[in-house]
Amino acid sequence: MALWGGRFTQLPNQHFKRFNDSLYVDYRLVKEDILGSIAWSKSLMMVNVITLKEQKILENALMTLLTEIKDNPKKMLSSDAEDIHSWVESELVRKIGLLGKKLHTGRSRNDQISTDLKLWCKSQVSLLLKNFHRLKIELLLLAESTQNVIMPGYTHLQRAQPITFAYWCLAYIEMFERDVGRLKDAFKRIDISPLGSGALSGTSWNIDREKLAHNLGFSSATNNSLDSVSDRDYVIELLSVASISMLHLSRFSEDLIFFNTEEVNFISLSDDVTSGSSLMPQKKNPDSLELIRGKSGRVFGALIGILVLLKGLPLAYNKDMQEDKEGLFNGLDTLNNCLYMAFLVLKNIKINHVVCQEAAEKGYSNATELADYLVKKGMPFRDAHHIVGKIVLEAIEKKISLSQINILTFKKYSSIISSDVYDVLDLKSTINKKKSKGGVSKEQVFNTISELKKINNLN
Ligand code: ARG
Repeated sequence: MALWGGRFTQLPNQHFKRFNDSLYVDYRLVKEDILGSIAWSKSLMMVNVITLKEQKILENALMTLLTEIKDNPKKMLSSDAEDIHSWVESELVRKIGLLGKKLHTGRSRNDQISTDLKLWCKSQVSLLLKNFHRLKIELLLLAESTQNVIMPGYTHLQRAQPITFAYWCLAYIEMFERDVGRLKDAFKRIDISPLGSGALSGTSWNIDREKLAHNLGFSSATNNSLDSVSDRDYVIELLSVASISMLHLSRFSEDLIFFNTEEVNFISLSDDVTSGSSLMPQKKNPDSLELIRGKSGRVFGALIGILVLLKGLPLAYNKDMQEDKEGLFNGLDTLNNCLYMAFLVLKNIKINHVVCQEAAEKGYSNATELADYLVKKGMPFRDAHHIVGKIVLEAIEKKISLSQINILTFKKYSSIISSDVYDVLDLKSTINKKKSKGGVSKEQVFNTISELKKINNLN
């Protein structure tokens, strides 16, 4: 029988029962539900609802259930319990009889589900942080080994200015670092316990909710029960952090897919993260990266889903809120999965140094330097920009790079150009001039890498 069967004279319609049940989704919260129940039993003992002896029996039975679950985490899926809370209670009654029925005193599934979900979110944040860390370290190692690999940096997918492969890696480390910051910030708000809020207005048992929160590893207890059982901001926040992270991962993927094309060929992806075509024997497709790029869609979808779900929902708990979990579970699983996949892609990536350098040379990516050279010799930037444009045009026609233009040709455009121009056009010197904070110079990149290595104990 359902937990709430007393008031009903008719059994639920079978379709309604399947429609209403959430065990097939919330079974994943079993560990959290059990831990929450153990902490609750201690609070009940402190307000004399149960004796110390009864509390110990309850706790032992719940611990036994926890070990059974470790061996078989999907054990409950064969049951027809409505949700994970009902399942844990029924198992408890099966194990210890009537005492199991005392556990729900003063508690509602409304505060229980939010407590379970927050506990689950806290452990997910730790997992995500681990996965971010692993990916960032791999990027850092790649940056360290590619400090001398010059390649074109792009705007509008047109070669713009020379950078190094290391600098590209560091750009993504920045993005992932911001994601980590957002996760840690969201964590502070997840870390507040709703348990003891009851159905919506608190519990009439004089429970020390702060103590209860600490017993469960939360930093404190929530302030207002009406809000506590209605709040799903933490679901929104995590899905929003996850969406931004997936957006970063999809740009990372797209860059690498582009670098990996036969036309560009800056990198070669390893066989172990690519797949073939059933028809075209020559193909080696970057499926791992395309899937990361594609999977970002479902995470954005989950974020929109929870926003729409909660919009205009009256206080306090409404059953709509049961729909919060599938998207959250799927969204965070997807992010964890993609972070690991991205790490694997980087692990065996090959950087084609020579091709990168040739592309940077061919791309007139040092044209800005030539304009700056003219500026240093006294020409206004706008005029310099125009003249360099003309010089580039001639170089394109002749199919040569700027450094291959002879001095007489340069002089045709401006008499202030002299043979010292060739030092300026050298890609390395172009790069190394960008010495101020955030610039691409070897010195800046080296310092950033050293700093990151220090922070991550990699020295
Ligand atoms: N299965 C429910 C959920 O996930 C648990 C809370 C049920 N509360 C209620 N009043 N029916 O939201």
